[in-house]
Amino acid sequence: MRVSGLIGLDISNMNQILQTVESLKPDCVINCAAITDVDECERQPKKAELVNSIGPKNLAEISADTNIRLIQVSTDAIFDGKHGSYSEDSSPNPINTYAKTKLEGERFVSSIAENYAIVRTNFYGLNPNGKGLLNWILKSLAEKREITGFEDVVFNPLWAADLAECLLGVAQMSYIGILNCSGNQILSKYEFAKAVATNLGYNNSIIKRSSSYQAPSLIARRPKKTYLDNTRMRELLKNTKIHTIEEVLRDPSFDIYRRKTT
Ligand SMILES: NC(=O)c1ccc[n+]([C@@H]2O[C@H](COP(=O)([O-])OP(=O)(O)OC[C@H]3O[C@@H](n4cnc5c(N)ncnc54)[C@H](OP(=O)(O)O)[C@@H]3O)[C@@H](O)[C@H]2O)c1
Repeated sequence: MRVSGLIGLDISNMNQILQTVESLKPDCVINCAAITDVDECERQPKKAELVNSIGPKNLAEISADTNIRLIQVSTDAIFDGKHGSYSEDSSPNPINTYAKTKLEGERFVSSIAENYAIVRTNFYGLNPNGKGLLNWILKSLAEKREITGFEDVVFNPLWAADLAECLLGVAQMSYIGILNCSGNQILSKYEFAKAVATNLGYNNSIIKRSSSYQAPSLIARRPKKTYLDNTRMRELLKNTKIHTIEEVLRDPSFDIYRRKTT
């Protein structure tokens, strides 16, 4: 598999995709692009649809024409979060625009492409733009600002580097269909924040329990229990190490990434 440098590309623009595919001739495309700000999706549904649904449709059409393998990164948020432990066969029931547009993207991929996989996930990582749950927790801890962690929102996030390994694994296998790629620990956002603080040696008493009902400023509805059943992932990707949150945070390399990104 070839690895190229960075090239800008708008996945809602078919001409740009065609030109890029023509010049790079990839074996596989892993689509990570999306509008992920769920409140922004509620405010701008057309923009969300263009990137989260039409973008994957465009890529699926190219895949169907060329047989380039397409890996579509999707989300646990396509479920309503009423009970959790969703398998690849569970029925989605999206409750906000982000989730509806991501599910639509999945459906375009599965109905148009032939050589494809849809990876449903939830992950945590260090984002150089400062966005994301882990960056927010780390910044709050460093500034000794009180953190309110939702106790009623439960997930099983995967370390971003492990997700990258999973995606490379899926890219190189012939598996067709949906695959849940998630971590092995099921925990609430409150417990996640506590785990971050504890493993990095912070005083975790500034992390307070809260409920998503007490968050009036959120525009989009959030599903509560979205943890994914990852049994199939563990069978198919048995050589891919899935790190615990403790292993990730206590690894010396985490501190190096962290200094670069926070
Ligand atoms: N973060 C999570 O926990 C999570 C959970 C479940 C699933 N996912 C899925 O995982 C994928 C990556 O998420 P993320 O958290 O890394 O998101 P992110 O930080 O918001 O990154 C999304 C990327 O998509 C790019 N993008 C937006 N519109 C585009 C377009 N029209 N053409 C090409 N690129 C475009 C953005 O570029 P600019 O920055 O230049 O706009 C950005 O680099 C997404 O598919 C998301 O739905 C994420």
